[in-house]
Amino acid sequence: MEVTAFQTVLLFIFFIISLHFLYFFLHLNTKNNGFKNYPFFGTLPDFLLNRHRFLDWSTQILSNHPTNTAVFHRPGKIHGVITSNPLVVQHILKTQFENYPKGTRFITLLKDFLGNGIFNIDGEPWKIQRKTASYEFNTKSLRNFVMENVFVELKTRLIPILENAARNNRVLDVQDILERFAFDNICKVAFNLDPGCLGGDGIVINGGEFMKAFEEATNLSSGRFMYAFPKLYAVKKLFNLGTEKRLKNSVSTVHEFADKIIKTRIEERVEKKDEDLLSRFMENSENSLEFLRDIVISFILAGRDTTSSALSWFFWLLSVSPNVEIKILKELQEIRGKNGKSIGEVFDFDELREMNYLQASILESMRLYPPVPVDTKACNKDDILPDGTFIGKDWFISYHTYAMGRMKNIWGEDCCEYKPERWIENGICKHEDPFKYPVFHAGPRMCLGKEMAYIQMKSIVACVLERFGFEVLLEKGKCPEHLLSLTLRMKGGLPVKVKERN
Ligand code: HEM
Repeated sequence: MEVTAFQTVLLFIFFIISLHFLYFFLHLNTKNNGFKNYPFFGTLPDFLLNRHRFLDWSTQILSNHPTNTAVFHRPGKIHGVITSNPLVVQHILKTQFENYPKGTRFITLLKDFLGNGIFNIDGEPWKIQRKTASYEFNTKSLRNFVMENVFVELKTRLIPILENAARNNRVLDVQDILERFAFDNICKVAFNLDPGCLGGDGIVINGGEFMKAFEEATNLSSGRFMYAFPKLYAVKKLFNLGTEKRLKNSVSTVHEFADKIIKTRIEERVEKKDEDLLSRFMENSENSLEFLRDIVISFILAGRDTTSSALSWFFWLLSVSPNVEIKILKELQEIRGKNGKSIGEVFDFDELREMNYLQASILESMRLYPPVPVDTKACNKDDILPDGTFIGKDWFISYHTYAMGRMKNIWGEDCCEYKPERWIENGICKHEDPFKYPVFHAGPRMCLGKEMAYIQMKSIVACVLERFGFEVLLEKGKCPEHLLSLTLRMKGGLPVKVKERN
């Protein structure tokens, strides 16, 4: 009897299904490394079932595992480790830094969007870019520049928008407003240009379109990490289909916009001597237009999505924790009283530093809702992690900041509660241990914009809370759903009604 191709396929499918039944029968679905590993398909079936709730699913797996580190395997020889263990985090981000670069997979998936920007490079090129940028981040002038820009954006844009919404009883999406705020702010810092995304006066160019394209490019690029079959994106890209077609279009809008700005700046350079991040990189005439563009894009990404994500979750947490809001207001009142400042005058840098309770409230909010919830590295050569887990060459390893904020063995039984007090010692906000709290990353690649982010976030909260209260229009007692892009965003935004305080 001749066996047709169709019968062969049927036989093969039957064989695979039987194998799975056998597997279940014998209880072989190994739970010893946290994820269920099926023959042939590895962890893929579970991943597909839980992809829509990836963060909570993986958090549960890690917290149930004795070492808080789990191994997974997927078809296509993809092996990986995911961890919420501070010792492992320290090992990969600091002690064995050289063995855990970003790696080819990460860099390839983000290359179309981020090019050779600081987020997407390793080795010597990264070191050079980091050095140039960190010099700029350390200067006092940058701090002043940020403060000034935050003040202008607050006074001429955000506050009038909130006043208007309060008077006209309009619903606002806080997340959208904060993203626009951060976008304007980072464009000013990165290339001294005001895209005017938040509206109000001073709209220079069509920054709205750029911002929309930027958001789409971010979401679609991060979507490449979630494909069941990793090479599928490459096929779609080759034939310019679906999401890959959209990605190409949005990236080209972003590039066009960034190129225009850089070209204008190069032309103006002879007359003006602007001091900003872009000008520092432009000092080296060997840096091509493309390279400058990549730098600009990486910095916009860093500045736009992180602080807005952090503050959206913060304002939502405040809406369900009125006692925290009262304490923040009390602290602000005390600082005003001490310095003889009236409401409406913006806080200066030293006053922002005095806001210990506010600092603790923001830290605590990012513990539960870290703007970068998961971050991934690659392994250069076989290694044994500090908790005994084996990791092979070319495997990838993710540290799960979102899960780490929910680990009882790190934060105690009340780890899921929002309690800024856990950060306060003798009235002062404690420093975070970057390996237990890698919200800003840790080790040599630690976030460069941490201080800038705090200036921005504390200024916004202090200025807004003193004058306005938000009534969040979401189902009471229910946590907003999140969208997993490169950062943790709220699905559908954070709709609020704004009330002016007396
Ligand atoms: C709440 C706000 C922020 C959080 C939570 C945050 C978090 C992070 C994290 C987790 C990384 C590591 C990402 C990676 O592995 O590539 C990072 C890197 C970085 N961040 Fe931030 N960030 C914030 C705000 C900012 C701001 C406002 C800037 C300034 C523009 C900035 C600039 C950078 C840069 C340049 C890097 C790359 C460092 C390197 O690879 O050497 N960040 N940040």
